[in-house]
Amino acid sequence: MTSTTRATNRTDETGTGHDSSVMSDTAGLRGPVVVLAGGLSHERDVSLRSGRRVAEALRSAGVEVQVHDVDADLMAFLRDTRPSVVWPLLHGASGEDGSIRDILELVDLPYVGSGPRESRAVWNKPVAKAALLAAGIDTPAYVTLPQALFRDLGAQAVLDAIVDRLGLPLVVKPVQGGSALGVTRVERAADFPRAMVNCFAYGDTALIERAVDGVELAVSVLDGPDGPRALPAVEIVTDGAYDYDARYNPGPVEYFAPARLAPEQAAHVADVAVRAHRALGLRHLSRTDMILSPEGVASVLEINVAPGMTETSLLPQAIVAAGLDLPHVYRSLVEQAVAAPSA
Ligand SMILES: Nc1ncnc2c1ncn2[C@@H]1O[C@H](COP(=O)(O)OP(=O)(O)O)[C@@H](O)[C@H]1O
Ligand SMILES: [Mg+2]
Repeated sequence: MTSTTRATNRTDETGTGHDSSVMSDTAGLRGPVVVLAGGLSHERDVSLRSGRRVAEALRSAGVEVQVHDVDADLMAFLRDTRPSVVWPLLHGASGEDGSIRDILELVDLPYVGSGPRESRAVWNKPVAKAALLAAGIDTPAYVTLPQALFRDLGAQAVLDAIVDRLGLPLVVKPVQGGSALGVTRVERAADFPRAMVNCFAYGDTALIERAVDGVELAVSVLDGPDGPRALPAVEIVTDGAYDYDARYNPGPVEYFAPARLAPEQAAHVADVAVRAHRALGLRHLSRTDMILSPEGVASVLEINVAPGMTETSLLPQAIVAAGLDLPHVYRSLVEQAVAAPSA
């Protein structure tokens, strides 16, 4: 058995860790790091919190940081500030769909994270799932259904066919989304229509997946000198849904960092996350969310190119569980972005 550290979302106050040995050294950075946080998405608040956390950590590593929202002043601000690196910490829409990264390439600014095309592929869950399957990585069986077709074909007939094919329970979610918004687990066929309506409130295409049971894990990957490497898996235990409230408010979620896994299970989930990171051509950092079945097979739910970085978020917990120093790791990501600016 591996030894486990139990971390609840109340106690993760590690984001401001302090390492005086790196305080004075800002070599390689010719201007401030600009952290982009906010944006107009359902996850604006989470993004602001992620931005604050990363900014604090970078400052404690001796890096000059400015935080800016995505608004009408941003382009002029970037032109005047000439940052050495931009770190887009935007969740949802433009932050994760590649658009903001396209803009940063347009104005020739290095940035932390994956390129626009790769971000776009990952942001669209069915596109990412197809790439995972092509790479031999397991992901739950699924159907993708646009609202217009659903309506044209007659809702009930389509839902019946889906239940026949995938069985129950199912999980209905928007093809693009985050923070579990618009996600519903369907135990009984009678609950299916309402789940579709809830999903269509967040987007016009639904992804309907077979529900898989097992241990929910988030495995973060960081690029390093020897290529991508997985951090210890973080295990998520809830007594209800792992929904928006559970994620961002102190409450009934428990995190185990590292996850309570046997060594061969830990090795398997690490391998799956690194393969997913490579298969999708990701850069610097990613977080692959998966469910490990009782039979020991990891099924990937989604990959995040802009994972949450708040005080309760999974990637920072994994960094701490690996025995690494948050400010140091964030600074090394910034330095990687300077060293190899093009995605
Ligand atoms: N196929 C599935 N089987 C079991 N649980 C699922 C499945 N899909 C999603 N979930 C649960 O719903 C949560 C949110 O789904 P996810 O696809 O990760 O959406 P989001 O992008 O909003 O985080 C997951 O963290 C997991 O707890
Ligand atoms: Mg998720």
